[in-house]
Amino acid sequence: MFLGLLTMGAHRTRQCSLLQLQPLRTCILFLLLLLLLLPCSASSSVITHLPGFHGRLRFYLETGYVSVDEETGTELFYYFVESERSPSTDPVILWLTGGPLCSGFTALVFEVGPMNFVLAPYNGSLPRLVNNQYSWTKIASIIFLDTPVGSGFSYARDPKGYNVGDISSSLQVVTFLKKWFNDHPSYLSNHFYVGGSSYAGKVIPLIAQYISEGIEQRQQPLIKLKGYMVGSPLTDPKYDRNSIIPYAHGVGIISDQLYEAAVANCKGDYVNPTNEICANVLNAVDNLMSELDNGDILLDKCAGRLIPKPINGVSSRALLEEYSRLSEPTARPTINCFSYRFYLLNIWMNDKATRDALKIKKGTVGVWTRCNTEVFPYARDVPSTIQYHLNLTTRGYRALVFCGDHDLMVPFLGTQAWIRSLNFTIIDDWRAWHLDGQAAGFTVMYDNNLTFATLKGSGHAPISYKPKQGFAMGQRWLDRKPL
Ligand SMILES: *[C@@H]1O[C@H](CO)[C@@H](O)[C@H](O)[C@H]1NC(C)=O
Ligand SMILES: *[C@@H]1O[C@H](CO)[C@@H](O)[C@H](O)[C@H]1NC(C)=O
Ligand SMILES: *[C@@H]1O[C@H](CO)[C@@H](O)[C@H](O)[C@H]1NC(C)=O
Ligand SMILES: *[C@@H]1O[C@H](CO)[C@@H](O)[C@H](O)[C@H]1NC(C)=O
Repeated sequence: MFLGLLTMGAHRTRQCSLLQLQPLRTCILFLLLLLLLLPCSASSSVITHLPGFHGRLRFYLETGYVSVDEETGTELFYYFVESERSPSTDPVILWLTGGPLCSGFTALVFEVGPMNFVLAPYNGSLPRLVNNQYSWTKIASIIFLDTPVGSGFSYARDPKGYNVGDISSSLQVVTFLKKWFNDHPSYLSNHFYVGGSSYAGKVIPLIAQYISEGIEQRQQPLIKLKGYMVGSPLTDPKYDRNSIIPYAHGVGIISDQLYEAAVANCKGDYVNPTNEICANVLNAVDNLMSELDNGDILLDKCAGRLIPKPINGVSSRALLEEYSRLSEPTARPTINCFSYRFYLLNIWMNDKATRDALKIKKGTVGVWTRCNTEVFPYARDVPSTIQYHLNLTTRGYRALVFCGDHDLMVPFLGTQAWIRSLNFTIIDDWRAWHLDGQAAGFTVMYDNNLTFATLKGSGHAPISYKPKQGFAMGQRWLDRKPL
């Protein structure tokens, strides 16, 4: 315990630097005072350099662990990047990655974060990183979180700690936030949003709901939740998975005849076939879909991404999400593959120099894998989040729901359909939204501050395919401007 406190003190360099001109003694006193005030479970470090990145980081990066369950010794690992514009007034965003059980770092380097990997063939040297010019940290501070426990560097001392699901992991995220804000009180005055894509879209409405309940009960710390953003969100299989067949038909993956056979025999349920003809039709659909990268139907189909594992035809695909086996040598993708970046990431993250730089606790996580989707138990115990979206939007929380229009895993057709099921009035009718004089996608705005948008030519986890357009979309929405 005492050793833990000492270690923590050593990492609290940031608070210390505020007093750089004061004598060392003041700094030590200040630290001791902090130690008394803060829960001893928190530990954080400021990172100024990273292996593979040339020079000092241009942005403020902090990593750390927050204890969310004492009994099982569960600690969630986070990366915090402060806004490069105006940290005191810019929003704070909690950004989550899907899977479930993919690391939050995925978003830091491939989605909305300040760095990108240089996509060069691996030659034995550590993969290199450069600045991402479309980072959302130019306009917001972002917490990238390894959640649920078992993803990234988050861990539990007791194996029982890994038995979490939609509800329990969302509650742990809320515990994390309370502790994090207690530890970073200056950010409590900023507007707060939760965002993420894919399976994160499933838990974000739960997390927002729990935060909003805390706000109603005036729980401290009072988080200034304003709304949430979900990209290609898993929401309700009735909509998400049933839209796969009409979408596959619309973009020319399955024939008219096969589509008509599905409509005639499956009675609108393409998830649980109730007769043999329907099951056969779905198998035929599955075979055609397996020709493509379901995350983005225009890309090369490659190893190390979206490995299909048929359970009952089409339904298993959407569940497997970003499932990845990149730690397996046979899954090594070639450089033309979208997943090559994940291959580079896995090499970089498992290098000792990287782990030392990120201040990873020894003996907590063995090999780091981007996604541990099938490794740990995880209960998908909230089948539909439509009710949560309804609850949040009708109580004044803003929502941005965006989709890549080339995503076959959670096709935008299903997302559009569940949004329509809310029966909200259209405020700004379906139209193109533009960037550089071109349509960047299409959008419609509903009552209750609900905005739906597509990113043209993008796939699952839409921003990672269209970073420039994704940034424009996020900036306009956060600034409360029409897309
Ligand atoms: C790999 O390529 C990089 C960039 O071109 C170069 O700096 C490095 O020396 C190379 N490493 C090896 C082991 O060849
Ligand atoms: C909707 O909100 C009400 C009031 O906060 C709450 O009682 C109810 O449980 C919520 N439903 C869901 C699905 O979150
Ligand atoms: C939307 O309208 C339909 C048809 O009137 C109704 O069945 C459904 O319950 C409504 N949904 C909501 C969320 O009010
Ligand atoms: C939409 O958000 C604005 C704040 O941006 C708020 O004033 C307004 O009441 C919200 N509208 C609805 C219908 O909730």
